[in-house]
Amino acid sequence: MHQLFHHLLLATSLVAIASGNVIRGVNLGGWLLVEQWMTPSLFYDTTAADEWHLCNQLGKEACLGLLQDHWSTFYTRDDLVAIQAAGLNAVRIPIGYWAVDLLDYEPYVSGQFPYLIQAVNWAQELGLTVLIDLHGAPGSQNGQDNSGLIGPVLFATNSSNIDRSLNVIRNLTQEFSQSQYGGVVTSIELLNEPRLGNTFNMSQLKSFYSGGMSNMTSVSHGQMNMTIHDAFWGPQYWAGYDPSSSGESSIPTVIDTHQYYAFPPLGNLTHHAILQSICNISYLLKSTDLNLLPTVVGEWSLESGNPPNTSSSDQNDGDDTAKRTWLRLMFEAQLAAYEPNGPGQPSLGWYFWSWKQEWDIDTWSYRMGIGDGWIPSDVSNMSQRVYPLLSNGCVDAGFNYTAPPLSSGSSSGGGNGGGGYGGYPPYYYGSSPAKSAPFLLSFLLVMLTLYLTL
Ligand SMILES: *[C@@H]1O[C@H](CO)[C@@H](O)[C@H](O)[C@H]1NC(C)=O
Ligand SMILES: *[C@@H]1O[C@H](CO)[C@@H](O)[C@H](O)[C@H]1NC(C)=O
Ligand SMILES: *[C@@H]1O[C@H](CO)[C@@H](O)[C@H](O)[C@H]1NC(C)=O
Ligand SMILES: *[C@@H]1O[C@H](CO)[C@@H](O)[C@H](O)[C@H]1NC(C)=O
Ligand SMILES: *[C@@H]1O[C@H](CO)[C@@H](O)[C@H](O)[C@H]1NC(C)=O
Ligand SMILES: *[C@@H]1O[C@H](CO)[C@@H](O)[C@H](O)[C@H]1NC(C)=O
Ligand SMILES: *[C@@H]1O[C@H](CO)[C@@H](O)[C@H](O)[C@H]1NC(C)=O
Ligand SMILES: *[C@@H]1O[C@H](CO)[C@@H](O)[C@H](O)[C@H]1NC(C)=O
Ligand SMILES: *[C@@H]1O[C@H](CO)[C@@H](O)[C@H](O)[C@H]1NC(C)=O
Ligand SMILES: *[C@@H]1O[C@H](CO)[C@@H](O)[C@H](O)[C@H]1NC(C)=O
Repeated sequence: MHQLFHHLLLATSLVAIASGNVIRGVNLGGWLLVEQWMTPSLFYDTTAADEWHLCNQLGKEACLGLLQDHWSTFYTRDDLVAIQAAGLNAVRIPIGYWAVDLLDYEPYVSGQFPYLIQAVNWAQELGLTVLIDLHGAPGSQNGQDNSGLIGPVLFATNSSNIDRSLNVIRNLTQEFSQSQYGGVVTSIELLNEPRLGNTFNMSQLKSFYSGGMSNMTSVSHGQMNMTIHDAFWGPQYWAGYDPSSSGESSIPTVIDTHQYYAFPPLGNLTHHAILQSICNISYLLKSTDLNLLPTVVGEWSLESGNPPNTSSSDQNDGDDTAKRTWLRLMFEAQLAAYEPNGPGQPSLGWYFWSWKQEWDIDTWSYRMGIGDGWIPSDVSNMSQRVYPLLSNGCVDAGFNYTAPPLSSGSSSGGGNGGGGYGGYPPYYYGSSPAKSAPFLLSFLLVMLTLYLTL
């Protein structure tokens, strides 16, 4: 009884903040920059594992045809309507530099830009804000498939790569500062997940961020924030960081920190350790005495590796009550951690990775979570959250909750086989055995690649 009262009290104070401008968003991943594990069918006729090699193998004409079809169908207005209906108020849109600046010898194809404009227009109509994120930079900033090109990190080895990226940043800022877009593009992220190492060091990254600041400031009319990824060093490292030259007028800088339990060294934690780690991050993101910059969690998911007794992509059994119960807890624990619960806190909110996949994966698809009940149908409605909050801001993981039986309309329950994009309820990976073997293989390869490059 006491606990219930406590719960209500905290829920009430959260509602007050929720009515403010907490960012609750999803990524539109695998759309304007494709990733094999998210849309495997695009890669069926090739041995490619990234967009560069996909287009290199198909040739520009065939690749453009394939991707035009993908751009016009994988995300449509219906998706943004569903996103808004889910109580979300923001989207993060990853894009590669080649949408704006493409050299003849590069195999990529261009044509994404009109779809980006279209998405921004829909967002404006539906009241969503947009964070545009430079996910792929020339030379690759992390060597991973998500940058468009798997291989060495060559971004910082050629000043032309830096200049071209800054030109893209300036293009995006100038384009979406125009009044017809209504200010819905609230921020540009300069560079997704830069991987520092032998060929790319912190002073080079900071110099790039400073270049981004002066380029954005020159064209933004003060309307946008600038988002910078923490390069996996954590928000603490960036406390008090100011990318502007002294005396220069500047725009607010927001730190993006990605929180995953899917990859080493956090990929094998027990549930208990995952919850403790989430609670630790929560404490950090709510600290008002560390001089942290405003912070968003620009990517997170429900994947937690393959230890015993946890959910994972190869245990994609929709009828598993224990799995659905855990995913609910892991979801709500992260909501509590990534949303502010008081004034003046660094945390601004979050963007889940990702709204969907071609064949949805339980731990990575937001819409599948709604369909199967471990994600509330309206995430902005505090009374749909089941786990009580403790006074430290973390969820009470000991609360006795068991996921209810799947309703008949949910995605995992019915035989929702077949392929194709965009259906709702989403296609369930487990019910499409013909596709599952290559899919699983490619997913594991991505995991392995990520592990090797980390
Ligand atoms: C740097 O990149 C440009 C194209 O972006 C290329 O023309 C030039 O050869 C590269 N320079 C070096 C030293 O690799
Ligand atoms: C940005 O680049 C796109 C694609 O090349 C182009 O259509 C658009 O006009 C550019 N916008 C600005 C403001 O330069
Ligand atoms: C922009 O930055 C300001 C000040 O740091 C912050 O209050 C605001 O929430 C940010 N907006 C977005 C959309 O990131
Ligand atoms: C970073 O790399 C650049 C280019 O190689 C080099 O000039 C600089 O000394 C390095 N900085 C640090 C702090 O290692
Ligand atoms: C863009 O950044 C580059 C590199 O820092 C700088 O040389 C250039 O002057 C900047 N352009 C503008 C318009 O600020
Ligand atoms: C889990 O631990 C095993 C053995 O140490 C390791 O090989 C594997 O990469 C780890 N997986 C993840 C996702 O962290
Ligand atoms: C959480 O923080 C506490 C106190 O700083 C620390 O002892 C513990 O190891 C951390 N746990 C995790 C899982 O990060
Ligand atoms: C996994 O679950 C079983 C049955 O609930 C339990 O006996 C076992 O200790 C658990 N293992 C771990 C590593 O948590
Ligand atoms: C919030 O959710 C509760 C429980 O599902 C529901 O009764 C209530 O009508 C919802 N409130 C709003 C404003 O949608
Ligand atoms: C949890 O709740 C269920 C149903 O209300 C009950 O049967 C069970 O005994 C409870 N478990 C604990 C540990 O309290």
